Amino acid sequence: MKVAILKGGRSLERQVSLRSGAQIEDALQRLGHETVVIDVSPELVKQVREAKPDVAFIALHGRDGEDGAVQELLGAIGVPYTGSGPSACIRCADKVLAKHLMRDAGVPTPEFHSFNETAFRELGAAAALKDIEHSLGFPLVVKPAGQGSALGIKFARSSEDVPGALLAAFSYDRKVLLERYVKGRDLAVSVLDSLDGSEAVALPVVEAVPHDEDFYDFEARYQIGRTAFVCPAELPQELAAQAQGLALQVYKLLGCRGFARVDLMLDQDSGELWVLETNAIPGFTETSLLPQAADAAGIGFDELVSRILLSAPMRSGGT
Ligand SMILES: Nc1ncnc2c1ncn2[C@@H]1O[C@H](COP(=O)(O)OP(=O)(O)O)[C@@H](O)[C@H]1O
Ligand SMILES: [Mg+2]
Repeated sequence: MKVAILKGGRSLERQVSLRSGAQIEDALQRLGHETVVIDVSPELVKQVREAKPDVAFIALHGRDGEDGAVQELLGAIGVPYTGSGPSACIRCADKVLAKHLMRDAGVPTPEFHSFNETAFRELGAAAALKDIEHSLGFPLVVKPAGQGSALGIKFARSSEDVPGALLAAFSYDRKVLLERYVKGRDLAVSVLDSLDGSEAVALPVVEAVPHDEDFYDFEARYQIGRTAFVCPAELPQELAAQAQGLALQVYKLLGCRGFARVDLMLDQDSGELWVLETNAIPGFTETSLLPQAADAAGIGFDELVSRILLSAPMRSGGT
């Protein structure tokens, strides 16, 4: 098959995408496919048309690649592609939308309140902050609705921290959320469609363990070496099954296809699981969670790439 690998782009996660793309390219070549690499730019549609691939493997993270824009374009020009379609990408990329859908469906997600810039500028949202702080308690988490890799996420320990945290989040997105802080363990469950595409399966749970107690600097924490990943996570079987069940429920709720990764927190006091967000296109680098989880399930990197590729052309383009 001729596969176009879409990587790079101008999102803040460009560097991760370049590494994901390189890994995928190597795997596709080992699998005997013809590959064309396209670094996403304003020439994208033209370049994909000229390459005439049988399928596009989207190795983009963050804005444009993961938010449905590229999927929309590929659908419009009739090129099949890996992973979720535009609607699921939009639901995953917007943490606020995803959390509303989860809350409405009864999926446990930490309590939250969300605002856009207009609410502050034109509706006096600042006057509601005290009530929100009161209901969420401290510390609380402030994050932009979009973005990933912990960019723009701040922890506010008291009222004084809130304005600065909001400002930081607003520098990444026009919409932000304030969320209840869950003290506990950081878990992730990747989901993969079965070979015939008829059902999705949850892979073993991965736990991200920070090396130090630097709870408030999540951007640094996510740099290679600052976080250790344990897979399968050391959890009672029942709890692992519960996390996997939640991940599958969310995967279906958001309408994902092919693969995705659901991030959760395990509350250390109550033992409850809380779903934070879903990544429609999680990382594919050597240290990324999806390849690690697949490996723990006996699915090597090449097989993972091959499975994801096979799940692509079966979908009807554009939906
Ligand atoms: N409500 C929360 N309580 C505690 N920790 C959180 C909370 N929200 C986010 N975090 C921490 O920040 C990390 C990134 O948050 P997440 O919502 O997954 O955004 P993204 O991965 O897109 O940056 C989480 O893995 C977790 O460690
Ligand atoms: Mg996350």
